[in-house]
Amino acid sequence: MLLPLTPLLGRERELAAVHESVDESDVRLLTLTGPGGIGKTRLAVEVAVGLQGDFAHGATVVPLAAVTDSSLVPAVVAQALGIREAGQRPVADCSAMCCMTVICC
Ligand SMILES: Nc1ncnc2c1ncn2[C@@H]1O[C@H](COP(=O)(O)OP(=O)(O)O)[C@@H](O)[C@H]1O
Ligand SMILES: [Mg+2]
Repeated sequence: MLLPLTPLLGRERELAAVHESVDESDVRLLTLTGPGGIGKTRLAVEVAVGLQGDFAHGATVVPLAAVTDSSLVPAVVAQALGIREAGQRPVADCSAMCCMTVICC
C-alpha cells in the first residue's frame, strides 16, 4: 500500500467516527462523501494505515478511479489483495471477498 508522505492534519473527529463504524460488525460498506479535494481519500488512507493490525490480513487501499466498468471492480480488488480465481468460480464469491469491510471515498 502506498503510504502518505505527509502527516494528516486535523480530522481527529472524522478519523474516530470512521474507526468506530468499521468496528461495528454489521458495517460492511462505508461511503465517505464530500466535495472533491475535501480529503476523503486522505482520510481513507489514514484509516487503512491505522487498521493494519486489526484484521488478520491487514487493510489496503485499492485505487478504482481508472476502473470505468463496474463489473470489473471485484477482479481489481481481488488482484490488489492477491486473490486468484479458482476455476469458473467468480472471484466475488470467494470467502475472502465476502468477509471484507469496504470504505468507498
Ligand atoms: N487532513 C489532511 N491533512 C493533510 N493533507 C490533506 C488532508 N486532507 C486532504 N489532504 C490533502 O489534500 C489533497 C486532496 O485530498 P484528497 O483526499 O485527495 O481529496 P478527495 O479525495 O476528497 O478529493 C491531497 O493532496 C491530500 O493529501
Ligand atoms: Mg479522492
